[in-house]
Formats: sequence, structure tokens, C-alpha cells
Amino acid sequence: MSDARRVEPMTQLRGVLHVPGDKSGSHRALMLSALAAGESSIHGLSGGLDVTSTSRIVCQLGAQRHDDANVVHIEGPGDGLRASTHPLDCGNSGTTMRLIAGIVSGVEGEHALIGDESLSRRPMDRVAEPLNRMGARVRGSGPREHAPLYVSGSDTLHAISYHVPTASAQVKSAVLLAGLRAQGATQIIEDVRTRSTTEDMLRQAGVTLTSTDVGDGRHIVLQPGRPIPQHWRVPGDPSQAAFFAVLGLIHADADLVIQEIDTSPERIGFVGVLERMGGQIALRTGDGTTDLLCRSSSLHATEIHAREIPSVDEVPILTVAAAAAVGVSAFIGMGELRLKESDRFAGSIRLAQSLGCRVWSEGDDFFVEGVGDARRFNDFEVEAGLDHRMVMSSAAAAAAGHGCRIGGVETVSSSYPGFFDDLGSLQ
Ligand code: S3P
Repeated sequence: MSDARRVEPMTQLRGVLHVPGDKSGSHRALMLSALAAGESSIHGLSGGLDVTSTSRIVCQLGAQRHDDANVVHIEGPGDGLRASTHPLDCGNSGTTMRLIAGIVSGVEGEHALIGDESLSRRPMDRVAEPLNRMGARVRGSGPREHAPLYVSGSDTLHAISYHVPTASAQVKSAVLLAGLRAQGATQIIEDVRTRSTTEDMLRQAGVTLTSTDVGDGRHIVLQPGRPIPQHWRVPGDPSQAAFFAVLGLIHADADLVIQEIDTSPERIGFVGVLERMGGQIALRTGDGTTDLLCRSSSLHATEIHAREIPSVDEVPILTVAAAAAVGVSAFIGMGELRLKESDRFAGSIRLAQSLGCRVWSEGDDFFVEGVGDARRFNDFEVEAGLDHRMVMSSAAAAAAGHGCRIGGVETVSSSYPGFFDDLGSLQ
């Protein structure tokens, strides 16, 4: 069943928000805890459905979960994960499918990974190719290896040296997770530094891994090993904070604080972009945590390169910022947007057009001529297309502008089930 929801304009925005635990950190905390022998705890785990899919899958593979107030406990089996006789349902979550493919490549037996309609359209060849080279057998359908993905795991994987062809933290992570069980040192070369969540958390869990910056990229060397149980603390998700940050800037009367977010350099490129656009936005650090502050601003256009926003997750909401700005913003090298939960290249263009902007594209670049003020946005309609980030980008535009109607709105729960409650709390 697909639900529709009307989002009304909001007159004044004030408040302090806590966004969900970082989705990337949450997936990995569950996975590394399941790989370890014994009990780990996780504070701040995201309650989104994507992370719930990962949780269900690691339990199918032999881990045990119990929840205690706000803390999740995961017990990894002493003798390691084992194949499940049932399909592993990744739902809407690309991170789940790609990283679990890496993990089960090293678990003897047959594994079937399935997903929803959106996930079944996304290319899995990007993980199948390196995992096959390591000695697993990973097959989907067609040349892009679409799900269902069948993985024959092996306990005799061998390490490879892999130059990741497109900037992708998921591909890098799939190879590293398989590398934990491989013979020899696994090497990764990335030309653009993507989020280092996997490397940082593996190191925290006692795995031997070195990472060296080389130009704009990095060279990673991982020794095989087993993570040690940890007490994980997952910070707030900066990609979720981005929706409120842009809303706070483009709204005519807003002053917001978003608390305790992850500030890894690969995750907060959007803050620099918004500063460059004239946004009154700042990171404030104290007591070992960082808050994001933002208030109503007049924005002007800028040029945004994909390498500033590796993984391009924040591009749809930056398109909304560009739509409210004065001048023509250029989004350069945005081809990867086409391969997300929906075609966000087309979706971002459609959204800016619906808001009243002139928009055009050339190859992997697109251009948005802003209307100069969110109060000039149109009231509009949008179909979410199983894409949580399109829901939240549309809602932010609607709250600062003249409202909208969102079809398929329930997909927001894949990452942020409480999004509309949090938005409403700012009124
Ligand atoms: C993620 C990586 C990103 C991003 C996704 C989460 C991760 O994809 O879009 O939301 O947790 O590794 P890429 O593989 O394109 O970097």
C-alpha cells in the first residue's frame, strides 16, 4: 500500500533536534558485532528499516540480538557465522546487500540476497566482480548482476589488490569485509576518498588496517582477522541533518540546532557548499560532540563537484538549496545519482522544475537557475519512487515554500521513521 501525505508550509522554525544514529555506522556496528565472538553493545543504533534489515540478516546468519532500553546487544557466535536456509531480505538497502555480499563471500555455503523493487534495479556487478576475483561465486541477473543475488561463499578466499573504479564506500567495504576471511593482505586503492566508516570501525575492533592518503584518494591495506567485541557509540547521521540544515537556511524565519552529528570530512562536504552559498551555518564542537547550527539566510548560486560530496547523498537537498538561491548553480559529475534508490539525477531535476526553476542538463552535469527565495516556490506534487531522500528533500522544500503532496511517503521509514514528527516539532 502506498500512502500520500500533504506537507504544509511552516511559519516559524525553532528548535533543537537529534537526528537518528548514522546509517552507515549502524549497519557496520551490527555487522562487525556479528563477526566478533561474544557480546557487543550498540548505543544510538538507527531505527530505520534499512538497518533493521541488516539486523535481521545478521541474526539469520547466527548472531543473537537483545535490546535493553536504548542499547542493542549483539552476540556474535564463537564458531563464526553460518549460511541461512532462507533468503536474506535486504529490503530497500543497498548498503545491506553490498556489504552482506562481502561478508557471506567468506561464509561457506549458499546465500540468496533479495531486495525490493528499487534495490532489484540497482547494479550489483560492482561488488560481484571483485568478490568473484577473491574466489567467491556471486551471480545476479543480466550484465549488471541485479538481485536476487546468489552468493556461494568459500572459506578459501584469497586477497586481491582492488582499484575501486567508481567512488563507492559500499564497494570498498564489501571487499574489506571479505578480506577479513581471505588469505593474504587485501589492498584497496580509491581515487576519491569515500567515507572511512568501515576502516575506522575495523581498526577500533582490533583489525590490522593501514590507510594512507594519496592525492585526493587513499591506499588501504587490511590484514585478515576477526573483529573483537566492542561498545559502539553511533553518532547522529549528517546526511539526515542536511535536510534540516537546508530547511533552516532557506526558510524565512528559522533558527535550528542539530545535535551530535558525525563530522567525518567525507560526510560534511554539504556544510562547505552551503557556507559558500552564503548560508549562516556552523559546526560547534564541545564535550567531544559536534552540533550543527543554521538560520535563515539569503543564498547565492555555486558550482558543486561530486568529489566534494562523495556518495552524492546530499545532492537532492542541495538542489533544493540551489532552487532557493539567486543565480545558476552547476552540479558537476553527478552520474552516480542515477544508481541510487531512485534515479536521483532525474528526480533532482524534476524537483527543482516543480519548484519553479529553469533546469537543464549536459551529460552528467545539471544546472539549476534558482528562483531567489523559497517563498517563491510552487506548491507541487511528487512521487517518492521508493526513495527516502526524495521524500525528505521535497518535504523541506514544501515547509519553506508553499507545501506539497508526496506520494509513497512511507518509504521515509527506510532511514528516518520519525522524520515528520521531528519536522513538526520545530513549529
Ligand atoms: C553508504 C555508501 C554510499 C551511500 C549510502 C551509504 C555506506 O554509497 O550512498 O547511503 O554506508 O557505505 P556509495 O557506495 O555510492 O558510496
